[in-house]
Amino acid sequence: MKILVVLSFILIFLPLNVATEDEHSDMHDLMAHLLTPASEAIWESSGYVITEEGEFSLEPTNEEEWERVLYGAKVISESAYLLNIPSRSKNRKEWVVFASLLEDVGQKAFEAAENKDVESLFEIGAELYQVCVACHQVYMTD
Ligand code: HEC
Repeated sequence: MKILVVLSFILIFLPLNVATEDEHSDMHDLMAHLLTPASEAIWESSGYVITEEGEFSLEPTNEEEWERVLYGAKVISESAYLLNIPSRSKNRKEWVVFASLLEDVGQKAFEAAENKDVESLFEIGAELYQVCVACHQVYMTD
């Protein structure tokens, strides 16, 4: 099946996934192996994919798929604490603010998933992305 257009966050967010190889800093591992898969659980669960055969919703269709969203949302909100341990936050003011935003957004995503509210989930997915980018703009060097 040839995919013509992908109208979902997967495509828009792709650049985030370009992890540099051979780099295994603590922060790299946390970003690449905890926050990224958690975010993908949300971004891949709302929006649409348009193919030759028609338009397909990415909306979860069973409990297992919703469970993945709940899991991702929980990981995101809890990751605020992981990012804010002193060795990671290094007392940086903005860092703490950005990390704390993840807690709010993660909680909202969790509630949306509990209510199976895909429209809210889509909007929260965009908000989540903005938090990632905001912190990266300040602290991701290279
Ligand atoms: C509190 C700040 C902060 C927040 C919030 C944040 N990041 Fe990061 N992220 C960083 C830093 C710093 C790096 C650079 C890490 C390094 O290269 O050592 C990074 C790097 C990355 C990388 C590249 C990893 C690599 O080294 O290849 C990915 C992917 C990533 N973040 C995903 C995310 C996603 C997804 C979110 C949002 C859900 C997010 N990040 C939120 C600070 C943050």
